[in-house]
Amino acid sequence: MRKKIVAGNWKMNLNLQEGVALANELKDALAAEKPNCDVIICTPFIHLATVAGITEGTVIGLGAENCADKEKGAYTGEVSAAQVKSTGAQYVILGHSERRAYYGETAEILKEKVNLALANGLKVIFCIGEVLEEREANKQNEVVGAQLADSLFDLTEEQLSNVILAYEPVWAIGTGKTATAEQAQDMHAFIRGCIAGNFGEKAAEEISILYGGSCKPSNAKEIFSKPDVDGGLIGGAALKCADFKGIIDAWN
Ligand code: 13P
Repeated sequence: MRKKIVAGNWKMNLNLQEGVALANELKDALAAEKPNCDVIICTPFIHLATVAGITEGTVIGLGAENCADKEKGAYTGEVSAAQVKSTGAQYVILGHSERRAYYGETAEILKEKVNLALANGLKVIFCIGEVLEEREANKQNEVVGAQLADSLFDLTEEQLSNVILAYEPVWAIGTGKTATAEQAQDMHAFIRGCIAGNFGEKAAEEISILYGGSCKPSNAKEIFSKPDVDGGLIGGAALKCADFKGIIDAWN
């Protein structure tokens, strides 16, 4: 059985004290009521080491939102996969559309990052998704298929077992405009088919595919009810404990 997951992506929000308070609140909420899915929070680099002390020994997994495409050395301002790992984090988000669009992260760069993250023992939450014009031109499958192929298809099946996919249609991120449950299901089934084509049926059956984009407590249950949707990658609604918990509870 593949894993059901709700992961939060804090993006560039919350100072250290606010992040610590949110992590503590979530820890208490999930200690009081055990979640029916895996829960992960992905935070800015500056939060990781401190939040790791809070999440350690709890059901909450911890991840970074990015890592460098170089192993180590003179890359001022970058943070390596090994450095992320050393904080106690277990995951890293790679390929988020905001990184692709605003920081010029190409498929080649992402391939390097994925390889380094996996080599350093991190699990990768790899994001894919089309922009509005591509959806309107009915090119979403072509775009997402290429994103998968260009950054992931050289991995071994063993490496892929440490990858979680997140389908995030760019037009749904932070816009309040969620994909319909049917649109999510169609794309997730397509993605699973691409994984089956390159890695085989077993790998496709085992990989978790999350939906992201304006996911809220009010729509999570319907989206998660689709057979190929294994959970969510949550932005805005991950910044308030009650909202994030409301989405986690969609699995109850
Ligand atoms: P929102 O939930 O704010 O739309 O963000 C989704 C996202 O980009 C998660 O990575």
